[in-house]
Amino acid sequence: MLDVSPLWPADLDHLRIDSPTPQALAEFYAGALGMSVSSLGGDAYLAEGHQRRLVIGRGEARGNPWNAFALEDDEQLDHYRRFVIARGGAPLASPTPLFAQGGFATSDPDGRLAVFGLRGASAMHVASGAAAEFPARLQHVVVASQRLPAMIAYYRDVLGFLVSDTVHVDDGKGGLGEANVCFLRANLEHHSFAVFRALRSASDHFAFEVPSWDDVRRWADHFAALDIGIWWGPGRHGAGNNLFFMVKDPDGNNIEISAELERLPKGAPGKRWPAGGKALNLWGPAWIRDMAG
Ligand SMILES: [Fe+2]
Repeated sequence: MLDVSPLWPADLDHLRIDSPTPQALAEFYAGALGMSVSSLGGDAYLAEGHQRRLVIGRGEARGNPWNAFALEDDEQLDHYRRFVIARGGAPLASPTPLFAQGGFATSDPDGRLAVFGLRGASAMHVASGAAAEFPARLQHVVVASQRLPAMIAYYRDVLGFLVSDTVHVDDGKGGLGEANVCFLRANLEHHSFAVFRALRSASDHFAFEVPSWDDVRRWADHFAALDIGIWWGPGRHGAGNNLFFMVKDPDGNNIEISAELERLPKGAPGKRWPAGGKALNLWGPAWIRDMAG
């Protein structure tokens, strides 16, 4: 059934993060990610660079009220809206000012909106600063959920994302038990959305895909110059096979720089991983030697 999902192809285009200090957070992204900042009114800001844009609004730190996926054209969007309605989805008004007229949203089991639409005309903001010319395309977003089975079912069965890899808890007999992470895709890239099991639903991270390992190094050096230290990595995720490292913004949002993300054709099965270990990092756990060692 899902081979006919009209969501394919769709890309993560932008997302909204909330902050008690949205302007200050937007200015952080201007310097750290080579973006320009403009006001969207209502205490919301657009941070935008080449192939990357974030809407930053006022709210609780680390809020992520919606994620917006871009489809190809009106025909696909219309087909997709009917597909979602037929599977029990209830289209709501699109919250984003960045898509053209005609987009819509649906509320997932955690109450976060998934937004679908067409890219509007580019505002052509010119980013400045050291990182403005560094390539980094907003590519995926990951959330934690206390309702994992419902979230997987919603994104797969109602919204038509395809399941790539899953990570599973031990079944107590050395085999794979219930899923505790699910990676989902709507184009050739291994995931544009993923969800993992947690005690409390929350945002987890968003990622920028860069063309090569050399660009990973370039971004790490750039963050180092700004005293933004690595929080996790570098390494290579097992699920997705991407090179990665992560840093945090001042609100505690996790920003991932990624390269070499696996590509998985429509209909291709993903892998099933035991939890932890290689699913997280094929290179092994990060380790920092102590000075006495
Ligand atoms: Fe990621």
